[in-house]
Amino acid sequence: MFITFEGPDGSGKTTQIHLLARWLREKNYQVVVTREPGGTEIGDQIRRVLHDPRNSAMDYRAEILLYSASRAQHVAQRIRPDMEAGKIVISDRYADSTLAYQGYGRGLDLEILRLITAFATGGLGPDLTLYLDITPEEGLQRRRLGGDEWNRLDAEALDFHHRVRMGYLALVDQEPERWAVIDAARPVEDVQAAIRKVAQARLTWDRA
Ligand code: TMP
Repeated sequence: MFITFEGPDGSGKTTQIHLLARWLREKNYQVVVTREPGGTEIGDQIRRVLHDPRNSAMDYRAEILLYSASRAQHVAQRIRPDMEAGKIVISDRYADSTLAYQGYGRGLDLEILRLITAFATGGLGPDLTLYLDITPEEGLQRRRLGGDEWNRLDAEALDFHHRVRMGYLALVDQEPERWAVIDAARPVEDVQAAIRKVAQARLTWDRA
């Protein structure tokens, strides 16, 4: 099973993913946690280029291709082999981030992005995507307070982040059976409880 987490910056994905993975391992599932951009050595090198605030001159097309290059390596080297070994793969971001940030955020053609993504992934998509919803104002504030890495995308104007959030909500509307929307503005334990409920239902359904 392939589970992805999506959401605006500062939605608490990383914390929630680790709590979910721990819970699944307690239930004797084999779980691997990974992230994008990154997830492989080559992907981590690409991540550094993408997120370096000094790279403000990066062309939008170059940006898409770099995220996609990281993803291609990730699918080939980590996600597919781990899925074939029967593990649950949980990724902190995947292709929907490209549609939300580069598509809705930057205004690039969604159909072209879908084609590039299909090429990069060989058509591999998640079975379940949890969308951690929070307003950009609250998300960015959390990142500032949390002392997280402040990347090139965080530095975008607030209206960019609003377009990203609207983009995610549009993606949910287009494919509601794959997505679960979680209100991430609540305390960590409440958000985790909602996530476990969705995961539990999905795993039960998967086994049936
Ligand atoms: P994060 O690791 O803190 O979530 O940061 C990843 C950043 O990269 C985040 O701002 C979203 C952005 N991003 C894209 O713009 N497109 C993509 O395809 C991916 C995977 C991430």
